[in-house]
Amino acid sequence: MTQMKYQYLKPEDIQHFLQHGWLRVPDALKQEYVDRWMADMWTRVGYDPSDKSTWHTEYMHIPRHREIRHEDFSPKGWAAICDLVGGEDKLHDLYERWVGDQFVCNFGSAERTMQVEEPIKSRKTWHIDNDWFRQFLDSSNVALTVIHCFTDIPKRGGGTILCEDGLKGMCEHYYNHPEGFDPPYHNTGTFDIIQKCERFSTSEAKAGDVILLHGLLPHTNSLNYLHYARIITNPHACLKEPLNFDREDGNYSLIEQVILERLGRKSLPEWKIARERANYHPRTDGFRRARVREELDRLVAAAKAKGLDESHVESIHLRGEAAIKEHERRHAYDLPLGPHGLRMDPLKMA
Ligand SMILES: [Fe+2]
Repeated sequence: MTQMKYQYLKPEDIQHFLQHGWLRVPDALKQEYVDRWMADMWTRVGYDPSDKSTWHTEYMHIPRHREIRHEDFSPKGWAAICDLVGGEDKLHDLYERWVGDQFVCNFGSAERTMQVEEPIKSRKTWHIDNDWFRQFLDSSNVALTVIHCFTDIPKRGGGTILCEDGLKGMCEHYYNHPEGFDPPYHNTGTFDIIQKCERFSTSEAKAGDVILLHGLLPHTNSLNYLHYARIITNPHACLKEPLNFDREDGNYSLIEQVILERLGRKSLPEWKIARERANYHPRTDGFRRARVREELDRLVAAAKAKGLDESHVESIHLRGEAAIKEHERRHAYDLPLGPHGLRMDPLKMA
């Protein structure tokens, strides 16, 4: 096995990722984009930042208006991703290659500030990310789940909870189901796996941090007990080819090594998928897209209030049909719907 060369990762980063299944890359977002995209966040959601009584919905996923190449937004984060997946040439040229301002907002509520923290294991929202493909053990459409932190995330502030020893159960689950699962049923059984686990980590972060999770690391949102705006985005790293668990040269990427180690194996020559692969229109596109028009109306009204016209609003959705088509192609929105259709009710805190 030849020694991999890494552009960002230090030996302690590698050790941390192999052991815990995730890695923090501090101070890794370009501030100019964070500032620009956060500047109209309150306009988009329609809340007054200084009047919490206007924060009606605790948790919301809002659509993307701007996008740029991942490496331009987060050069350090991108370098770490390249190292973890085995090199930039492994990453898909189209899917998950742009990142943007599709914020996941967790505002908490006045009631939450008076609540006692709930037991981690009892959350009903444990999952891995996958809303657009048939998930197998070797699927690489979500090789890594990425968290871009646009605000600080303090303790009890709604950080993502990670179940580190849940990785083993997830790897075994997918090893034992070579037929794969279509979304949203890829998470059947995840809750039961979590109940047997002991090693949990709740992400705390500074604005500008990037957190990288192995694609099979089970995680969940958590409650924001502080009644502040916790803002993240949740892009992914998508590869061109499936993971390979039978490499002649033994040169496994770090994400492949994590799976082999959890299965207690050096390779998996016997393991094969038992159904064809399938990619779909992302299932969670429905409720995000449903918000586009109202956000545009607010952004245009805010521009007009400053004496500016619509051309000053930064949004793909105001740049004409060709820009929208290209945006949709980058997000697999031109693919047919999966067997379970679109989800139109927004995700809620459970
Ligand atoms: Fe997730």
